[in-house]
Amino acid sequence: MSPVPDGTPPAWPDLRALLEDTARQVDLALPRYLPEVPPAAAPLDAAMCHSLQGGKRLRPFVVMQAAETYGLPGAAVLPTACAFELLHTATLIHDDLPCIDNADLRRGRPACHLAFPEYAALLAGDALLIAAFGALAEQGRQAGVAAERVLRVVAEFAHHVGAEGVIGGEAADIAGEKKAPDADLLFFIHRKKTAALFVAAARAGAILAGAEESDLDRMTAFAESLGLLFQVTDDLLDATSSAEALGKPAGADAVAGKQTYPRLLGLRGAQQYADQLAERALALASALPARTDIWEGLVRLVLTREA
Ligand code: IPE
Ligand code: IPE
Ligand code: MG
Ligand code: MG
Ligand code: MG
Repeated sequence: MSPVPDGTPPAWPDLRALLEDTARQVDLALPRYLPEVPPAAAPLDAAMCHSLQGGKRLRPFVVMQAAETYGLPGAAVLPTACAFELLHTATLIHDDLPCIDNADLRRGRPACHLAFPEYAALLAGDALLIAAFGALAEQGRQAGVAAERVLRVVAEFAHHVGAEGVIGGEAADIAGEKKAPDADLLFFIHRKKTAALFVAAARAGAILAGAEESDLDRMTAFAESLGLLFQVTDDLLDATSSAEALGKPAGADAVAGKQTYPRLLGLRGAQQYADQLAERALALASALPARTDIWEGLVRLVLTREA
């Protein structure tokens, strides 16, 4: 059965409003965590601000909803939510660089290294990455969240976004270009470059809310399925959509000879794999203790997204 059966009214209108509200909160809070760049380094400041604009703010949403799922108001984890957006934006700037994906468009605007000198884009990515750790430290000042929980989030963040996680996945993605399709390698790449950040985001919100270890295991399994689904739909959109609709290049994966599910399984096979991941994520969402409608809605939204 399809995860989106005909006739089922989508939960999207409410979910979309919640996503928009989260994006508003995150956009208001983000400047607090940006460094004060000296005037002599003005291009760096401009490059960071350029790249932070736009974006769906999905990782902050996951952080805040995970906190809510275990009884802590999302607003209480806003610094951590911002840390995930800062880090995510840093990875996008670096992902677009000529030596990585060489992409010219991001979030509907020129990629950072085209809007600014390449050095400014490289350093803006570095600076946002560091700013993310600063935002995590600010979480420690938030009333009502124990310092040892914040420390655990910092340690897990470093693990999931570093060479063992997102950055390792990015390196494997480039090293795997123009090689024969390899299912194990592809799964590794998606799990690291994309799912690891969703896992880290979901765990961070849950940890800050004081979730038990068994809850964290459940959250991890759900977020991994969601993250894998997110990257399969990203691959599908690259193969089937347009730069206008995506706000980033389309058709670039095939040109680069990337490891992707459309290349490994064909478009129909990749769509079936996405459907399977969505089924799994929906089943895991239904086992969460609260906010199941929001998590299920998010899975459907990621499965059927157009950007
Ligand atoms: C893009 O993520 C990078 C991938 C993991 C595929 P998003 O599609 O969430 O990008 P923004 O934040 O909305 O721009
Ligand atoms: C990028 O994957 C994932 C990270 C930035 C870590 P992609 O290269 O597929 O992302 P897009 O399509 O450029 O957004
Ligand atoms: Mg890439
Ligand atoms: Mg890319
Ligand atoms: Mg992509």
